[in-house]
Amino acid sequence: MKVPFGDLRVHYAQVQAEIDGAVKRVLSSGHYILGPELERFERDFEEFLGSPYVIGCASGTEAIYLALAAWGVGPGDEVIVVAHTAVPTISAISMTGATPVFVDIDASSYVMDVGEVRSRITERTRAVVPVHLYGQMVDLDPLLELARDYNLAVIEDVAQATGCTYKDRGTAGTFGDYGAFSFYPSKNLGAFGDGGAVCTGSRENYERLVMLRNYGQSRRYYHDMVGINSRLDELQAAILGAQLPFVGQWNERRRQIARRYSQGLKDVVQVPSENTWSSHVYHLYVIQTAGREALQEYLLDRGIQTLIHYPIPAHLQKAYSYLGYQHGDLPATEHVTKRILSLPIYPELTDGQVDYVIEGIRSFHKAGPATQQGRGSESPVAVPLTPQANTPPATV
Ligand SMILES: Cc1ncc(COP(=O)(O)O)c(C=O)c1O
Repeated sequence: MKVPFGDLRVHYAQVQAEIDGAVKRVLSSGHYILGPELERFERDFEEFLGSPYVIGCASGTEAIYLALAAWGVGPGDEVIVVAHTAVPTISAISMTGATPVFVDIDASSYVMDVGEVRSRITERTRAVVPVHLYGQMVDLDPLLELARDYNLAVIEDVAQATGCTYKDRGTAGTFGDYGAFSFYPSKNLGAFGDGGAVCTGSRENYERLVMLRNYGQSRRYYHDMVGINSRLDELQAAILGAQLPFVGQWNERRRQIARRYSQGLKDVVQVPSENTWSSHVYHLYVIQTAGREALQEYLLDRGIQTLIHYPIPAHLQKAYSYLGYQHGDLPATEHVTKRILSLPIYPELTDGQVDYVIEGIRSFHKAGPATQQGRGSESPVAVPLTPQANTPPATV
């Protein structure tokens, strides 16, 4: 049996009629940028989120950038964020000219340790970016209180948590000043190309975002702000709109798969722990285990693809060496980085495939030490792992 990490062709087959209809409608309309499909998707996504305002944009990275820029973050400013995230979260901060300031995570839920944030605030801090990693949320109540005290913007990175809810009070993205979404194809709501969105509760923020994503124009050829080109095109907006009605059921299927994995694996590896304040939507199912590299090889030999999100935390990446962080600066981040492994999880995965992965992991743990040591040795943090052959277009 083969269990790829993701299979977007199977996904397409499931919604082919809806997608083909949407694509045809756009192609024959002759309207490809900033048209009725984007308008409709933005209003539908507002309703889905329960947010007053949504703007579509070109990617999740630019969604975070646009939110920071709308708040006026720029050179000389500092933005507090975790290092255990997809590096694009940090790229977006760098794009404004501001300096990312890293805080550690909670090692069991993998998200920002909110208790650490206060000690990193300086007179230059302008914003904090809680990343709702793998599909569950940062504890926002204490963070929002802190942000209010210090007049910081809260920009939620919701790239991996579309549809997640917080304390049954609302949807991820709608608690901070801005929520930034990615529609990378393998996300819980994915485009068939790049895409992103920002939601906000403020009309003023919304109007700035509308200008910033379209060259800073308030109307054609009148540029009130220094903006960029970051628009969600009509094709992607129509494709996203066609899939939006299914996100709830797809998230529920992800939760079912996660329950099956956890039931089958809890006595052999550390399974993900769900925090008490948010509903996990399992963009990724991430276990921790000591013999991670050997397990990964063992599973690959049996046709099961796994990935590591992420093998090198941002503070130890070459690109950010100028910030001067050292090994040991973020102990929980560095600890989990050596132990995490993401198992395949997507709505189209069958129970048979899930059981095959469970059996593979259980048989690895039953095997002797020779198997468990693997062919190579455990990679230390900050040494890039060799890219896997045939890695599908999985999550960034
Ligand atoms: C947590 C997180 N933030 C930001 C991004 C960037 O999104 P995009 O790839 O759409 O630019 C990603 C990756 O897709 C992500 O996983």
